[in-house]
Amino acid sequence: MNDETIVIPVPAAVMPGLKVAILGAGKMGGILLQGFLKNNLVALENVFATVQHPDRAQALSVQFGVEVTTDNLEAARQADVILLGVKPIQVPDLIAQIKPVLSPRKVLLSFAASVKTRSIEDCAGCELGVIRAMPNTPAMIGAGVTALCGGRFVTQEQMAVAQRIFQTVGRTVVVDEKHMDAVTGLSGSGPAFLYIIIEALAEAGVNVGLPRDVATLLAAQTTLGSARMVLETGYHPALLKDAVTTPAGCTVDGILELEEGGLRVTLIKAVKRATQRARELAAG
Ligand SMILES: NC(=O)c1ccc[n+]([C@@H]2O[C@H](COP(=O)([O-])OP(=O)(O)OC[C@H]3O[C@@H](n4cnc5c(N)ncnc54)[C@H](OP(=O)(O)O)[C@@H]3O)[C@@H](O)[C@H]2O)c1
Repeated sequence: MNDETIVIPVPAAVMPGLKVAILGAGKMGGILLQGFLKNNLVALENVFATVQHPDRAQALSVQFGVEVTTDNLEAARQADVILLGVKPIQVPDLIAQIKPVLSPRKVLLSFAASVKTRSIEDCAGCELGVIRAMPNTPAMIGAGVTALCGGRFVTQEQMAVAQRIFQTVGRTVVVDEKHMDAVTGLSGSGPAFLYIIIEALAEAGVNVGLPRDVATLLAAQTTLGSARMVLETGYHPALLKDAVTTPAGCTVDGILELEEGGLRVTLIKAVKRATQRARELAAG
């Protein structure tokens, strides 16, 4: 028997020197963790995650093959970029815990909804880079979109690293912080609005005689294809709509029903209301 060991080379990480901590590796933190491990963004030994419960830490550690503990201070001490993934109300306590190891050489990257960069800077008590992010749930399949904004002390390089981190779960866009509530109302809540539209289209398909599975596939793939047309052609949605709408054809009859039912105005109101609610939550 040949006792030579076969060594399968592990590809070098995209950012081999980067050390990242995720404090609060819950639903969204877990999605991100999975995203950058799957994309080989950082080396396994450079990832430090924490959760609240020791048994969950143990389970995640086995699942992802990285260090997961309940020790926020130690995880933050070892990292260059510290992601804050706890609930918004827990953010001040978490920063107080890790404050002894914070310095301008580290970056705090928070994806807690509604928590402003200024309040994170104030809690941190030193002039370090703070970046706030708002991802959405399609991040789970790498099709998310994350808006990012920077605090007062962030450098371009730090923002580029934050974008690279969130690009492992989809697209990114950098906005001014004053737009973050609108982002929450549009792309944060948006998946729920679109699921209702897909559900309604599928229901309509069933109503006109299609089997439910076929109707759901047609509705979802049509939504996906139309979104890709907007993104990949760069054409205005109205122009793409006109291309489907032949004179005296079927589509224009359907559009008239949509306009009479107020779909357009209803969607605008839904985003405005969700934005308003995000603003209220931010104000506490
Ligand atoms: N879910 C989304 O769609 C979404 C979208 C955008 C932004 N966000 C933001 O993401 C943040 C997390 O939301 P989520 O939905 O991911 O919630 P979640 O699943 O409840 O995750 C929270 C995580 O924080 C951990 N945790 C609690 N206290 C901790 C502490 N003192 N130290 C370390 N870890 C602690 C929990 O640990 P255990 O697992 O042990 O309980 C859990 O893993 C929120 O601020 C939210 O606003 C979420």
